[in-house]
Amino acid sequence: MGCGREYGAREILYTCPSCGSLLEVIVDPPRVTRDIFQSRPLGVWRYLEFLPLEDGMEIISLDEGGTPLYPCERLARWTGVRKLHIKFEGGNPTGSFKDRGMTVGVTKAKSLGSKAVACASTGNTSASLSAYAARAGLTCYVILPSGKVAMGKLAQALMHGAKVISVRGNFDEALKLVMELSTKMGIYLLNSLNPWRLEGQKTLAFELMDQLGHTPEIISVPMGNCGNISAIWKGFCEFADAGLIASKPRMYGVQAEGAAPVVNMLRMGLESLERMANPETVATAIRIGNPVNWPKAVRAIRQSGGIYDSVSDNEIIEAQRLIAYAEGIGVEPASAASVAGVRKAVAKGAISRESEVVCVCTGHLLKDPEEVISVCGRPVEIPPDLKAVSELLMKP
Ligand code: F0G
Repeated sequence: MGCGREYGAREILYTCPSCGSLLEVIVDPPRVTRDIFQSRPLGVWRYLEFLPLEDGMEIISLDEGGTPLYPCERLARWTGVRKLHIKFEGGNPTGSFKDRGMTVGVTKAKSLGSKAVACASTGNTSASLSAYAARAGLTCYVILPSGKVAMGKLAQALMHGAKVISVRGNFDEALKLVMELSTKMGIYLLNSLNPWRLEGQKTLAFELMDQLGHTPEIISVPMGNCGNISAIWKGFCEFADAGLIASKPRMYGVQAEGAAPVVNMLRMGLESLERMANPETVATAIRIGNPVNWPKAVRAIRQSGGIYDSVSDNEIIEAQRLIAYAEGIGVEPASAASVAGVRKAVAKGAISRESEVVCVCTGHLLKDPEEVISVCGRPVEIPPDLKAVSELLMKP
């Protein structure tokens, strides 16, 4: 992204050796029409002409993508927009959008002959990588910020057989560590710094266009390490460059108030990020103070004429509860930031009431059962008799 130098697809690089900036995969716009996709099932590999697949690659897949797009009338009313849809990424094989990236990333790792893969994670990346590594027969190392990873995600990494290491530090420190480790030990790094992963994640934009049939005004995306919002924007740009869509949406990046370095940067009109040393939020998935992909996210927001904002933990929890009981969709806190952000932006006049909005709900409710219990409380316990049940049900 910095100096414009180009490298071959089989070089193992995570940043530019010449200028140190982020790398980006360039895919020549394929000459296809939308009909060729219709005969294939909805999912990441439906769009293989847009994916960096090389001859002889064995695709490592768990049938990711193809997630539901739910129209949500009650949430539209609550947020104040004309139409609101949830793209429910909790419907992926390991319960988050990370699977879209990992099918491409682990396919790449395998084709390069790597025997081991690694990541630092706030939880979902590790859950996904450990599953795809298991599928590919690769050793998987994950480094997690101690005490801050939701139980469901930890359970997945452990059961899929990853070597799980907890560090006394936050995600940003864990990522720095794993980057050094992977270079030193020749382990293939699969954080979103790895641009191949974002290639898989961009398919969310393609699916959305196939499901909705037209471009919505706004796509609201929670931002942590900032890979996903940039991947989704890349998808829209590539579909437009290939002449498959006529217009692109505006990207809305939402962060949690206690972990909002990108939003703060944009608010202050700065040209570079000031990292937050001690990020804190109930949405542990996006508890990140030094997001590596910030230049890509800032570009996505600026190029799309998009918007940005942060939401409080209370706003996140309120939205999470409403998404669950008003629409029947169970999402984890970070995901709910996308909906909370829309309500806030409409109230401020940053999103028009006439808009059609798609909120990307990135992870499943079951990822973080402890947060649910702390928010909803435990159920009342009674003896197993009818009188006790009836008395309880009669209570207001
Ligand atoms: N939502 C969820 C549920 C996530 O797990 C993440 C990131 C994000 C949103 C933000 O996406 O980083 O691409 O901006 N989780 C990473 C992880 C950091 O380690 O699982 P992003």
